[in-house]
Amino acid sequence: MQQYGNSRAAIQWLSVGKPQSRHHDNYGGKLQQHAPAHQVLRAVGRAAAHHVPQAQKQDYGDCSYCQRYEIVKNIHGTETLLPFVISCGDNALLERSVLMKSMKLYTNVHRIHNELAALGIGPDAALRVDQLTPFDQYHYFGTDAVDEALEVLQLQPGARVLDVGSGIGGPARYIAAKTGARVTALELQSDLHEVARDLTARCGLSSRVEHVCGNILDGAVAENYDAIISFLCFLHIPDRAKLFAACRAALKPAGVMYIEDFGKSRPLSADEAKALSVKVQCATLPGRADYETHLVTSGFSDVSMNDVTGAWKDFTASRLAMFRTARPRNIEVHGQEIVDDLDDFYGTVAQLFQDGAIAGLKIIAR
Ligand SMILES: C[S@@+](CC[C@H](N)C(=O)[O-])C[C@H]1O[C@@H](n2cnc3c(N)ncnc32)[C@H](O)[C@@H]1O
Repeated sequence: MQQYGNSRAAIQWLSVGKPQSRHHDNYGGKLQQHAPAHQVLRAVGRAAAHHVPQAQKQDYGDCSYCQRYEIVKNIHGTETLLPFVISCGDNALLERSVLMKSMKLYTNVHRIHNELAALGIGPDAALRVDQLTPFDQYHYFGTDAVDEALEVLQLQPGARVLDVGSGIGGPARYIAAKTGARVTALELQSDLHEVARDLTARCGLSSRVEHVCGNILDGAVAENYDAIISFLCFLHIPDRAKLFAACRAALKPAGVMYIEDFGKSRPLSADEAKALSVKVQCATLPGRADYETHLVTSGFSDVSMNDVTGAWKDFTASRLAMFRTARPRNIEVHGQEIVDDLDDFYGTVAQLFQDGAIAGLKIIAR
């Protein structure tokens, strides 16, 4: 079976300078417009394949834009030292996207094609939303969680919804198909954005789901929306004042925002902070009280918060257990590298919940 999204293939492209196929074009399109990008792209491919020995990693201090805990320096060939992140300036979107790849849920995102192939669905076949939902929801409890949001939002056909951090588009497609709402799916990482756009087109939903590649902090969306949804995205964004101000500005005055996010349950150990920062791309987390304060000072007057830590602790533990039970099947479908990456990511998150370090929060803000 052909496997998609293997990062070794991406590295090969990086070294020969052109994509091998549509599905290996992980960092194409917009990113190729940036001249300095080529250096960064090599770093992405190498980091994604874990070819960065510990000795070549270096603490770089905090960057005011991305607030990274650790920056990886990388070697190209045998001699050239490539900074993993150069600076946060004109290429901020690109660089932020590069950093995200230390979270292994976000490497090899074309793996969804492996799952579809295992169902006998080819790369260009038309799709139904329900064929995708087992694989395209990058949060907990799949479409049940989205249904919970829909109960709150009561969207009418034609309502305008902004999905901040839309991943490969699962929630956006599900909402558009189920309610008739028109969804703007805003996603930072171009490879996820491209996968999302392709899947949406194959579902025949392009007129109801508009995919935008950009950063919510950079004014990537302008319109007045009836609702904002965001599932497990805000944990990646340390600057809550700027984030919530951007969300408030994007909403109509009577609009409502529905968030699923992590919070901090207690002071974190250095190891926990590092695991969160590097493997979950989560540089800082607010406690519940701070979270609410940030929302209120950003112009949201009515905030309700539901602590779902227990359910998410159970979910992440059973996700890991099921993934490990199915390891032989998963290696057959995806190859060992992808399975090892996901195992590492699922294991890290399950442990953080198990140890009581992080909290699960569902937030409604008006
Ligand atoms: C855990 S995924 C969840 C994806 C989707 N919400 C879902 O539930 O399937 C979080 C997504 O947020 C995106 N993201 C992170 N920071 C962002 C930002 N500043 N602007 C837009 N998207 C962002 C990430 O690239 C990632 O795809």
